Amino acid sequence: MPFTIIRNDITKVKADAIVNAANSSLLGGGGVDGAIHNAAGPGLLEECKTLGGCKVGEAKLTKGYKLNCKYIIHTVGPAWQGGNRNEEELLRSCYRNALALAKEKGCESAAFPLISSGIYGYPKDKALDAAVSEFRSFLADNDMDIILVIFDKDSFEISSAIMGGIRQYISDAYARNAAKRDKRNRREPLMGAAMSEAVKPVSLFGRKKHTSLNSAPAVLSEVSEEACFEASVPELEGLLKAQDESFSEALLRLIDEKGMTDVETYKKANIDRKLFSKIRSDKNYKPKKQTAVAFAIALELDLNETEALLEKAGFALSGSLRFDLIIRYFIEHGNYNIYEINEALFAFDQSLIGS
Ligand code: AR6
Repeated sequence: MPFTIIRNDITKVKADAIVNAANSSLLGGGGVDGAIHNAAGPGLLEECKTLGGCKVGEAKLTKGYKLNCKYIIHTVGPAWQGGNRNEEELLRSCYRNALALAKEKGCESAAFPLISSGIYGYPKDKALDAAVSEFRSFLADNDMDIILVIFDKDSFEISSAIMGGIRQYISDAYARNAAKRDKRNRREPLMGAAMSEAVKPVSLFGRKKHTSLNSAPAVLSEVSEEACFEASVPELEGLLKAQDESFSEALLRLIDEKGMTDVETYKKANIDRKLFSKIRSDKNYKPKKQTAVAFAIALELDLNETEALLEKAGFALSGSLRFDLIIRYFIEHGNYNIYEINEALFAFDQSLIGS
């Protein structure tokens, strides 16, 4: 996955480059810096002594020593002083310079802590915004796996408006489901009696109507049951053929219809280039739900269209699972920023989207 967020100790992570939130002496300290020096062993300090320190916002590179990486990139974040001392620009330049070094060394993956958000006191939500926005612009023009490593969940804060909105949305959905259950329970004895009087025929096409993704108007989901029963054999064959479009075919058609390029699509979907080529070349590719959802987000599909695309891969968006509700929340609010969606999914302990 080009961008992912994980919960871990960064010294346990495997990546081509591991980024250290150091101080300008580069001679070690507390927090993640202390953990990296401890885990890497004394050779790291010896090399750091030769580097002549590092300015705030800049980055320097050493070998990886005992860490599971080729390089350690040391960068010095700004200490928070209220926000008017150029802190944001300095923090952003830490990410830019560290990523430039990783790229220069041909790294395919880089793991970052949330720089400045600990001892240096940078507000956590703002530190996250700066980090993710720099990752996003870097990934728009480069291919790399960037892993944001969160040590303790308390140091992860997304925008309070989004957090509050999702909490409310989830609790409203739970309340709606509970009300539906109550209503059903109250109705059930009556239903039982009615059903025993006459056994109702099971409908072959008893699915909810939804706007279909297929450009051809004649698809099963848009056709009433009666019409289906009345359809002639060749018409039915046509209907079934339209229904037969695979996930991969539907995806490629939608990319064309939206006037997007392949690159735009897989970048916006947080999907690895290699995986995209696989999907493109395999008509019967069966994606994971997180991948299918990511494409729906990249294509900015509405809820009905998302449901229809997911259905091609055998998935649905329920009204009760947290993951599904968070995706619904973002789609209903017209927010198709996959980075923000992934921050929210992480905050609610759900799998991220993309692949
Ligand atoms: N793995 C991943 N993240 C970690 C780990 C770890 N092992 N340990 C802490 N964090 P901080 P800063 C998180 O204080 O704010 C040092 O003394 C932590 O939860 O390490 O940039 C340096 O020498 C927080 O979210 O770095 C400097 O003097 C994030 O890493 C000063 O601290 C950054 O916290 C730098 O302060």
